[in-house]
Amino acid sequence: MSTSSKRETFEAAQSRSFALEAELETHPDCFRMLTGDRPTGPLHIGHLFGTLLNRVRMQELGVDVFVLVADYQTITDRDLPDELRADVLGLVADYLAVGIDPDRATIFAHSQVKALNQLMIPFLSLVSVAELKRNPTVKEEFTASGGSAMNALLFTYPVHQAADILFCRANVVPVGKDQLPHLELARLIARRFNDRFSHQRSFFPEPNALLSQAPLVLGLDGTKMSKSRNNSITLVMDEDETARLIKTAKTDSHRRITFDPIHRPEVSNLLLITSLCTGETPEVIADEVADRGSGYLKARLTEALNERLRPIRRRRREVSKDPVLLSTVLARGSEQASAIADQTLGQLRGLMNMSY
Ligand code: TRP
Repeated sequence: MSTSSKRETFEAAQSRSFALEAELETHPDCFRMLTGDRPTGPLHIGHLFGTLLNRVRMQELGVDVFVLVADYQTITDRDLPDELRADVLGLVADYLAVGIDPDRATIFAHSQVKALNQLMIPFLSLVSVAELKRNPTVKEEFTASGGSAMNALLFTYPVHQAADILFCRANVVPVGKDQLPHLELARLIARRFNDRFSHQRSFFPEPNALLSQAPLVLGLDGTKMSKSRNNSITLVMDEDETARLIKTAKTDSHRRITFDPIHRPEVSNLLLITSLCTGETPEVIADEVADRGSGYLKARLTEALNERLRPIRRRRREVSKDPVLLSTVLARGSEQASAIADQTLGQLRGLMNMSY
């Protein structure tokens, strides 16, 4: 795709996303939202400010929220981790801790919803190998591995993701910019399925991307926040560890603190996180810290973040004491998701003349 048409696609997605945001506020009951995470370790404050709080906001608005623990996706690019079970239940604990309410939202796992996975078969017939190769994430991995070492699940995981979204006819999917091509593929699959098997009446709605409005939180070293880089503050961490990690955060040699994300990304990121916790603007915080320097800024951040996370962490400790509760939440959600997936698959078989 040329750069200009890529930009047009992005701009179109962005304007749809703005319109959608307004619609969600006025008609929340018309929407089902699906999001998910890979269970590869504890969620961090990048997740919290980037997506988790938004999910809770949608739930409070009255949107029907589905949250997927994407356990099958963990084996696309790594061996099955020994801690998978702990990671899955940990993810459920993180969800409950931030306020996702299993009585209103559906929390479920890939591996527990058979009919969802079966949608992969017809969906795979609707996309070409060339189209999958063009998906930027797949393409990157394909090139990195020289094409041969990549496993076929990784190659086809955007199709799996389309099944995640379409099985429950979700019409809103919160995504970062990097996940937009996946959503485009889900829309394409919905369209092609409708054209081929259900042209009288659209069977699948085309899901819409809800682009994150939240500013991007970086890791404490100024690079992408990620577990493997040891630069993130997780929800499960305690206050002392948070303080210790913030002390190691990278800053620069100017004593006076200013908010300047382009020229001073590390310091600006610390200001941004503080601002997300307190609700003040980063500029106001910078003015207040001013010549007191980065040590003072770090102390202020530590206090603000620990305070912001305190109720979340308290709740997380409570729910973690009760592993049966976590398993039950996941089992109940997966059962609800299965009932929907079974129904979708049944109807789809009908449309494909496969009811015998
Ligand atoms: N791929 C997403 C991630 O790595 C997780 C995910 C799986 C997902 N299925 C999805 C996100 C469907 C949105 C919709 O974070």
